[in-house]
Amino acid sequence: MSERDELVRDLLAHGRFLAELDTIGVAWPPAGLATPAPTAGPVATSETPAAARVGSLSAIRAELGDCQRCRLAGGRKTIVFGQGNPEAELMFIGEAPGADEDAQGLAFVGRAGQLLTDIIEKGMKLRRADVFIANILKCRPPQNRNPEPDEVLACQPFLEAQIRAIRPRVLVGLGKFGAQWLLKTAAPITRLRGQLGEYEGIPVMPTYHPAYLLRNAAGKKDVWEDMKVVLRLLGRPVPGE
Ligand code: URA
Repeated sequence: MSERDELVRDLLAHGRFLAELDTIGVAWPPAGLATPAPTAGPVATSETPAAARVGSLSAIRAELGDCQRCRLAGGRKTIVFGQGNPEAELMFIGEAPGADEDAQGLAFVGRAGQLLTDIIEKGMKLRRADVFIANILKCRPPQNRNPEPDEVLACQPFLEAQIRAIRPRVLVGLGKFGAQWLLKTAAPITRLRGQLGEYEGIPVMPTYHPAYLLRNAAGKKDVWEDMKVVLRLLGRPVPGE
């Protein structure tokens, strides 16, 4: 699908979302907002119907548009919005798209993504399609360098809005950037890992990034311990227990 077709599709979905809000009597954008900032989107609750969550995500994607808010726009092939179940109880937050993600427009589809899929499906016995996966940055940094603070700030309202639209029961911060952003701390991932925190009232499990695990297989044991805690928080069976 071309970028233009994608935009049209997202705008149509946005329109359906607005029509639906109209039907159920919700004003959009909320009164007093000159421009509909994505952070002002509705916060989902356990009662929020799936269609409204899909609509919220489509509205956030439409607001992102052909984003030129930071320098990464110049080097990207595609915007990687994140993907998964809009009603996900579990949401993973990574760092930024790599080359595979940039090429395909999907989060975590390269080698690290395959390992993340294994953690979710083989380890946790969940379906990847049932969780939601997003990144701090939606565009690939050149040579996969670390995100710059101003890039994180430019992308931040969109990730905040996505989390509010989905309102998962548990968040997992993958690696230093995912964990530090969710927990609003500069503490090293070695200290954060395995210690539950919270983001807007949602429990956060910081753990190692799958790309780190590709280089340090010994870390997989720790990640499995963290995922067991996540499963318990979700009230799901813990394989092997
Ligand atoms: N690493 C990330 O942090 N995110 C991706 O989407 C892929 C690799």
